[in-house]
Amino acid sequence: MTQTTNARILDGKALADRMRTAMHDDVQALKNKHGRAPGLAVIIVGDDPASHVYVKNKKIGCEKAGITSFSHELPASTTQQHLLGLISELNHDPLVDGVLVQLPVPDHIDSKVILQAIDPGKDVDGFHPYNIGCLTVRQPSLRSCTPFGCMKLLEETGADLHGKEAVIVGASNIVGRPMALELLLAGATVTVCHRFTQDLKSHVERADILVAAAGKQGLIQGAWIKPGATVIDVGIHRRADGTLTGDVDFAEASKRAAWITPVPGGVGPMTITMLLYNTILAFRKHIGEPA
Ligand code: GUN
Repeated sequence: MTQTTNARILDGKALADRMRTAMHDDVQALKNKHGRAPGLAVIIVGDDPASHVYVKNKKIGCEKAGITSFSHELPASTTQQHLLGLISELNHDPLVDGVLVQLPVPDHIDSKVILQAIDPGKDVDGFHPYNIGCLTVRQPSLRSCTPFGCMKLLEETGADLHGKEAVIVGASNIVGRPMALELLLAGATVTVCHRFTQDLKSHVERADILVAAAGKQGLIQGAWIKPGATVIDVGIHRRADGTLTGDVDFAEASKRAAWITPVPGGVGPMTITMLLYNTILAFRKHIGEPA
């Protein structure tokens, strides 16, 4: 049976605004009590325009929340050794609670080596194998921002995820894999689809919770969506007319889903929100205050 009503919108912008207002108050209280605000160091290497926009938005997010940001803009010719030296300095800087290296880094730098050099206690992106391991063994600490933001959006539906069929499309280190661990932690039965998956449609059709994170515009057809499903679209693509769209055919999917994230205004605003959340959490851990 096909549902004819339109899905309810999972409004990431509204949730992000609410969380950021609460965090602003939290930061003020922490500043009054401890004499300094949480600090986030952001490193960017090279001139990738999209990365510079992301980094600018991270700095603006910090400013608005009252978090101190330290910006390190390095040329594309920066050596891996130099970058490792800077990370080591920031790891030891008592005013820095979070260290983030914007990805991608230039080809001559090994991102695995860089991400592992960040102190796991300052890894506010949640990409360090230690933090991924913590999530794997059900002891979440600093959690990867985009999957963590998706979990906050899922909480908004009020649904119990125990026993639900969750299907993730995309198996990247920064979204698909930690997303699988988050949903497993929440008690869902998890399937991860990837480039070698045969018959993607048959998996998507079973999903009570669908997370589309393949990075392929319109990969998920609306007719594949199970009636009543919750659809989280992590994809973001620019159409020829300049408007944004995701991995899911929104118009058709929203006729069948119960809940769906829009693009833009769904997952996007949550990623930086969770980065700010992690920076405050890292600050609390450093000063020994309970979260
Ligand atoms: N590049 C794309 N997404 C991200 C992210 O969440 N964090 C960092 N550091 N780089 C990225």
